[in-house]
Amino acid sequence: MYKLDQTKTPLFDALLEYYNNNTIPFHVPGHKKGDGMHTKFRDFVGTNVLSIDVTVFKQVDSLHKPTGPIKAAQELAADAYNADYTFFSIHGTSGAIQAMIMSVVGQGDKIIIPRNVHKSVTAGVILSGADPVYMQPEIHEEVGVALNVTPETVRNTLEIHRDAKAVLIVNPTYYGVSTDIKKIAEIVHEYNIPLIVDEAHGPHLQFNKKLPISGMDAGADICAQSTHKIVGSMTQSSMLQVRKGLVDVNRVKTVMSLLQTTSPSYILLASLDAARMQLATEGEALLDATIELSKYARDRINSIKGFYCFGEEVLQKEGVYGFDPTKITITSKGLGLSGYELERILAEKYFIQPEMSDLYNILCVFSFGDTKEKVDKLISALEEISAEECCKIPRKINIIGMPHIPERVLTPREAFNSKTVSIPLVDSLGQISAEFLMAYPPGIPILCPGEIVTKEIVDYVQELKNANLYVQGTEDPEVVNIKVVSDLQISNMI
Ligand SMILES: Cc1ncc(COP(=O)(O)O)c(C=O)c1O
Repeated sequence: MYKLDQTKTPLFDALLEYYNNNTIPFHVPGHKKGDGMHTKFRDFVGTNVLSIDVTVFKQVDSLHKPTGPIKAAQELAADAYNADYTFFSIHGTSGAIQAMIMSVVGQGDKIIIPRNVHKSVTAGVILSGADPVYMQPEIHEEVGVALNVTPETVRNTLEIHRDAKAVLIVNPTYYGVSTDIKKIAEIVHEYNIPLIVDEAHGPHLQFNKKLPISGMDAGADICAQSTHKIVGSMTQSSMLQVRKGLVDVNRVKTVMSLLQTTSPSYILLASLDAARMQLATEGEALLDATIELSKYARDRINSIKGFYCFGEEVLQKEGVYGFDPTKITITSKGLGLSGYELERILAEKYFIQPEMSDLYNILCVFSFGDTKEKVDKLISALEEISAEECCKIPRKINIIGMPHIPERVLTPREAFNSKTVSIPLVDSLGQISAEFLMAYPPGIPILCPGEIVTKEIVDYVQELKNANLYVQGTEDPEVVNIKVVSDLQISNMI
């Protein structure tokens, strides 16, 4: 159980006290509780929120050197998340991930990461100057999405790269797929290095045993979580959970302070305080209801002709150990519709906005903000779409075997800082890429910055284009040209 009184919201309470005292603000922000703001915006957002939009002073504490209510709020969060320390991030999980990476690796240090990471991981690798070693995730062939990496892949990679300084895992993926992170934590710790976790899509895992295990409970050393994505805080507000031991907490503190603004939004910070209180006091029951609602939706959607919403059967696949049922991935290929087309129809005709779409799927994220009424609207829209589209020819998923991960001669940071030139892809053999090339499906890079363009890759891109599949990532949307490093040329490596 918790050690602290989780019903408390010290930071939000400090702001309420400031509000109740009617304090006269001779401090920034210049809108002065909304009085200096145009009424068009102020009347819409309301004055309550503007009156707690304050700056750093003793009563409300400082994010960079917390000694008062922010310190207390972060300690409560650490208690709720089974961490030794929590750091609030108002730069989203992107900022927290960059800080997490910069806390454990520096210039030239090896870090083991899945190949299909979010761009914030790449940003962290560039900022730190680290040397990434990529692990290939498994693939769900039927719905065309990347799954997760297996413990065996982690062990094999560590065996080859015994000098690695950290391993990063995603728990769970955007589509709700977790790996056996507990086993991975044990493996990584055998090498006496930290396991760091991108838990952008898992800030709720801690609070319900029916969900996959959270990174902190599994023994990870740092977890970055998008509180705002899945639970009740505001956009951009995230948390970084830290366990002492393999991680230097003072280093984390310094890097978080280095990367974050000196003018953090107290509205965002207070929303983290309130979201943690809600999760710790009511999270289990709220998540029980969300899981039930997700099961209801999944069953109904799977009974509609042409749609498929994968569920627990995904646990049979390689790279899958846990599944978060609140992530509703709806595959529309049975209707001959792409995920992009389905998203457009739902948004424009039914005013239902999914979280995202890819070539074959849309993803709907469920949370305890959803109701049966809203879910029924989604289901009846899908039923109507199915009836209208049922005559089209179903799409076939083509996942063309991926090329080998090419040799890398520069770190992403070196490639990023090099002079570059844009040249035709077909003429780029042997050159060092300064860009990503992603194959859809399954959304895994075939080329990363600093890697050598091979004939296998150029042929593969042509093969994807011939099969009407998507290749993305280059500045040139048609992927005819690619940016390569112009002040270095490697030969004999094709
Ligand atoms: C896997 C993953 N990690 C990190 C992030 C970044 O999170 P945020 O948007 O909170 O910066 C995202 C965002 O979508 C993500 O999908």
